[in-house]
Amino acid sequence: MEARSSSVLIFFFMFLAISSAFPKNKDKYKPCKHLVLFFHDIIYNGKNAANATSAIVAAPQGSNLTILAPNSHFGNIAVFDDPITLDNNLHSKPVGRAQGMYIYDTKNTFTSWLGFSFSLNSTDYQGTINFIGADPIMIKYRDISIVGGTGDFFMHRGVATIDTDSYEGEVYFRLKVDIKFYECW
Ligand SMILES: *[C@@H]1O[C@H](CO)[C@@H](O)[C@H](O)[C@H]1NC(C)=O
Ligand SMILES: *[C@@H]1O[C@H](CO)[C@@H](O)[C@H](O)[C@H]1NC(C)=O
Ligand SMILES: *[C@@H]1O[C@H](CO)[C@@H](O)[C@H](O)[C@H]1NC(C)=O
Repeated sequence: MEARSSSVLIFFFMFLAISSAFPKNKDKYKPCKHLVLFFHDIIYNGKNAANATSAIVAAPQGSNLTILAPNSHFGNIAVFDDPITLDNNLHSKPVGRAQGMYIYDTKNTFTSWLGFSFSLNSTDYQGTINFIGADPIMIKYRDISIVGGTGDFFMHRGVATIDTDSYEGEVYFRLKVDIKFYECW
């Protein structure tokens, strides 16, 4: 009897623990600000110096800084200075720059770790938005954290859903960034 009631209690506490780790009421939060932007990354491949917007700056032993490493690019780090546009056209007038790095950090699949800022300078927005998080590239929609901002985004926090809107081999990719701020000031 004693043992049975304590196991009921354990299940009760387990249920409490599980229900608080995965809040079901997540959907009740509505963003206080929402914007969708695109950025375009043209990776240096040894021939496109004038056009490239990103450079491999670290490679594992046996690879070089021109071609991404085999085995899911594990060990490569790229630094980028990419144009941000309002639509999916690389040639649209940029509204700012996406600047930072991505690190390929998984040995058996394509996953990168992103750390970058959007520096926006347009008639609509002036300021920076800072992003950090894991980017499991093979998944269509990935969420990364928006850890802060400055200017028009002073003290803002939220989550951005990114998806690879387009890519051309290993030379170009375009990310769509759906920015949802849940804390605005
Ligand atoms: C870099 O590595 C690739 C693939 O192994 C090779 O084709 C290329 O010639 C190398 N480039 C340089 C500059 O060493
Ligand atoms: C923002 O854009 C204006 C107008 O094009 C320019 O004068 C200014 O230098 C830019 N500011 C930054 C921080 O790039
Ligand atoms: C720059 O690279 C992009 C992506 O590969 C390509 O679409 C574009 O035509 C290139 N522009 C020039 C001037 O080479």
